Amino acid sequence: MIDFANLASEFGTPLYVYDATEVRRRIHLARAVFEGLDAHIFFAVKANTNPALLSLIKMEGVGADVVGPGELEAAVRAQIRDLLLNGNGKTPAIAGAFVDAGGSYVSMDTPDELSLWHDFPVKRLLRVNPNIVAGGHKHIATGGNVHKFGVAPERIPEAIGYLDGLHVHIGSQILDPEPFREAYTAGVNLAQSYKLKLLDIGGGWGIRYGHDERDLDLDEFRERVVLPVLRPFDGTLLVELGRWIIASAGSLLLQVISVKKSGKTFVVVDAGMNALIRPALYDAWHDVEPIRPRGPRCLCDVVGPVCETGDVLAHDRELALPDPGDILRIANTGAYGFSMASNYNGTMRPAEVLVDGANTTLIRRRETLDDFFATCSTQFRTSHATQRNDSDSHSSGEPHESN
Ligand code: LLP
Repeated sequence: MIDFANLASEFGTPLYVYDATEVRRRIHLARAVFEGLDAHIFFAVKANTNPALLSLIKMEGVGADVVGPGELEAAVRAQIRDLLLNGNGKTPAIAGAFVDAGGSYVSMDTPDELSLWHDFPVKRLLRVNPNIVAGGHKHIATGGNVHKFGVAPERIPEAIGYLDGLHVHIGSQILDPEPFREAYTAGVNLAQSYKLKLLDIGGGWGIRYGHDERDLDLDEFRERVVLPVLRPFDGTLLVELGRWIIASAGSLLLQVISVKKSGKTFVVVDAGMNALIRPALYDAWHDVEPIRPRGPRCLCDVVGPVCETGDVLAHDRELALPDPGDILRIANTGAYGFSMASNYNGTMRPAEVLVDGANTTLIRRRETLDDFFATCSTQFRTSHATQRNDSDSHSSGEPHESN
């Protein structure tokens, strides 16, 4: 059992806490699904970019699926060599960095991307869009033909001489095996008809956030999808899992600033959509509980300190009414929590700690004002007379100190 109270007092809040045991458990469960198949698991780094977590994941023999340069660098710092590059807006810069890092698999979003990869010794996959819509929210469904990702299967011939495989990823937070079955059936058929030996089946495995949900049932997934559809595929499978591996391992600890009664009861905590944007962006549910429940149960909104009406972490939630100073734990926040956090309202992003049995490590210190301003300058060039400093020593066009 993790002692959240102790962690909050030692490291302060807002604080992300990750449980290494849960990460390992999840990876083992995922691996068991593909037992007997030639399948290669990658962690979708977009879910969590902390290099220490990537090191942990690497120790379990999992590679890294990266998109941006920071994700790539995080994987490199964790000494992951088994790399897969994704994304629908790749630049020559990211292509070069990926090759320099020794990356081997590239999912091209369109045949036009071939020009980026002609000279590089990578395995090229083409992302095809099977026109299947699935996923926990319209913003995270990707497999419809109106979504921006991939191309219709009719475009495979444009790239065929240069292709090693295909990629099918239809969305995220999918709890039902059926859309996977349909998408992979299409993917396997296409790969076989073009004699391609690599199939990237993406990620998207859903987890239980609310009480009325349950994790994607992996026994059912193996029975209905893996054994009948994927096992007959004569080639290598690539799998890109983000949420499944890291979501349930993460908790966000927040401190109650005030409890206010107006039209509703508001529990105001020390971070909201700036630390965890999922509820505001997707109406996502996260369980919230005081780590030491004691007050009477009461219906309330748990809200952050950010100047947005949408800065709500939990709507109309019944919880043991906390007092100012109490600590709340927001559950299942390991995926798309810190990685989507912002500095909105000039707030500093949370610290992160990793708990591995009896050991706790601060794996990202809290941001400081110096971090926040590290990329800024108060100097600027101006031709506007009123922006000039009082001294005549500067002519227009010279850098000036602004007020
Ligand atoms: N592969 C590709 C090509 C992806 O675009 C994604 C996620 C994954 C794999 C990993 O999906 P996962 O296993 O984590 O479902 N911010 C949203 C989720 C966006 C997912 C984007 N792509 C959220 O907080 O729910």
